[in-house]
Amino acid sequence: MKEATKQPIILDVDTGIDDAMAIAYAVRSPELELLGLTTCFGNVTVEEASRNSLQVLEQLDRDDIPVIPGAAEPLFRPPLKGKTVSVHGHNGLGDAELSEPKGAALDMHAAEFIVEQARKRPHEVTVIAVGTMTNMALAIMKDPEIVHLLKRVVIMGGAVTVPGNVTPHAEANIYADPEAAEFLFRSGVPITLVGLDVTMKTLLPRAELANWREKNTKLSRFMADITDYYMDSYTSFYPGILGCALHDPLAVGVVIDPTFVKTKPIHVQVDTEGIYSIGRTVGDLRARAEQEPNMDVCLEVDADRFLQHFLKRIV
Ligand code: RIB
Ligand code: CA
Repeated sequence: MKEATKQPIILDVDTGIDDAMAIAYAVRSPELELLGLTTCFGNVTVEEASRNSLQVLEQLDRDDIPVIPGAAEPLFRPPLKGKTVSVHGHNGLGDAELSEPKGAALDMHAAEFIVEQARKRPHEVTVIAVGTMTNMALAIMKDPEIVHLLKRVVIMGGAVTVPGNVTPHAEANIYADPEAAEFLFRSGVPITLVGLDVTMKTLLPRAELANWREKNTKLSRFMADITDYYMDSYTSFYPGILGCALHDPLAVGVVIDPTFVKTKPIHVQVDTEGIYSIGRTVGDLRARAEQEPNMDVCLEVDADRFLQHFLKRIV
């Protein structure tokens, strides 16, 4: 595929095991040009997210892709949640033993990088945000015009028609910084929301870990090693589940091939005050909704076709 036909993307990550899968999927997809990985707090601290991102890029032999650190904490409040050790391990990569990365993150803020790329390539760049929404909110605060210059923001976050995963109503990426998410939702930037509505339907079956080990490539071994921990956490948190959720990879998949999902335009707000529902993504699902839709929400997914596509790229 010619360079000119590739879609330029920035992947905003809190690396995390499924973030690592999303990075590998993006790097190994010829349809995409990965401009950089911007990092934020979430599954791990922002410093750990940057270190993990560098380690993943080294496994992919792509240490030419820049890693740019961003938000260390929510915009306006003390953190609502800490690191997600029970899902991603103490180091964020399933406690796999990895040497310190040789490369270093850039001496620049993630928000600055997003603004710079949006200005450099107007109407071309898609940001795929699979951590907290803090870096995107900071970028828009820094330069509000980027809402007209970015092609789209594809968010892994929220739960519009299904239960949450950190509270009965809230999904982790939105819950971690609800004000940042609400600010982004109101900004006017084109948004596609890839929430738990669809990502809990795209499961990686446990048998694929054995297949990765059998393939025995540098990447497939690495993926199997980090995913063991994530798989076990899904088995213990969701009794009877048939695998672990490919949250962040699906957001990348939707950019590569939008026909993996069916979307509906909906007005969605974030509850930033609720006693029981802080961080909830409240979609106006009424037939006569009072406000114009502010995003396309993914409601259905062709899970099998997506899984096969993802697996073909992780070799
Ligand atoms: O709720 C799932 C999301 O939270 C994923 O992006 C995962 O990596 C964590 O950030
Ligand atoms: Ca993530």
